[in-house]
Amino acid sequence: MDLKLTNKVAIVLAASKGLGKAIATSLSAEGAKVIIGSRDEAELAKTAYDIQRITGNEVIAIPVDVSNGDEIKHFIEQAAEKFGRIDILLNNAGGPPFNKFENFDDDAWQKAFELNLLSVARTSRLVLPHMQKTGSGRIINIISGSVKAVLGNSVLSTSMRMGVVGMAKLMADEFGPYNITVNNVAPGMILTDRLKHTLPQDADPEQALKEKAKNIPLGRIGKPEELAALVTFLASEQAAYISGTTIQVDGGANRSIF
Ligand SMILES: NC(=O)c1ccc[n+]([C@@H]2O[C@H](COP(=O)([O-])OP(=O)(O)OC[C@H]3O[C@@H](n4cnc5c(N)ncnc54)[C@H](OP(=O)(O)O)[C@@H]3O)[C@@H](O)[C@H]2O)c1
Repeated sequence: MDLKLTNKVAIVLAASKGLGKAIATSLSAEGAKVIIGSRDEAELAKTAYDIQRITGNEVIAIPVDVSNGDEIKHFIEQAAEKFGRIDILLNNAGGPPFNKFENFDDDAWQKAFELNLLSVARTSRLVLPHMQKTGSGRIINIISGSVKAVLGNSVLSTSMRMGVVGMAKLMADEFGPYNITVNNVAPGMILTDRLKHTLPQDADPEQALKEKAKNIPLGRIGKPEELAALVTFLASEQAAYISGTTIQVDGGANRSIF
């Protein structure tokens, strides 16, 4: 299937590793011109180089902290200037800390708000005129399976991701007339550094991952490229009639019927 992504310009945020890197690699492999952003400049440049080497397509690295409004503005301006258009925006960020509700103060809530909710509003607002100009666009947000079923200690993540679900629904409503689709992708357990950091420090990693996968119908933790495959499809021409949805990539882990 030709996804018709050749020469489309895609911004992929939080992309030096993990899910963002897998998504950037997949879009680049389909022929898109990809602009990646995250904070560590050296790490980001290395990732851009690695992806370009694999796919043979140009990948631009622009450092950005997505929780900083000025940096986001500068990033989007530079990205738009580079190729003269923006077709795809992949919103992603590091996840907020896990802990019980009673352990988070105002500062922790404010940081999570800026990192995981306000960042999505800021980037989407800034790319909108570019997508309106070209007459089409794709906005895809990486959130979490915690919007579908309770995940212990994830109150910051769940609260902000639920905000993204609502925001995406309204954006899908308002941006539809411009032929811009807006969707969320909700990972279950996907093997990235973030997941590895949640394993008990004294446990054998292999055993600990097996333990975590025990209740997943497919019997294993997911791979970043399996989530990237869905994002790449949602970014494609073929997904033109899918908007306002939240799709899980979790090996069947969420047992909710609705
Ligand atoms: N993996 C899973 O199983 C899973 C499940 C549910 C939800 N999620 C969510 O999916 C998202 C990605 O997770 P992941 O597993 O790919 O994490 P990861 O492997 O830890 O990678 C995180 C990426 O985000 C970048 N980043 C962090 N803070 C940033 C900031 N303020 N501005 C710009 N970039 C930033 C990091 O680079 P720098 O540090 O250099 O900025 C890195 O490239 C997170 O929000 C996570 O909560 C993941």
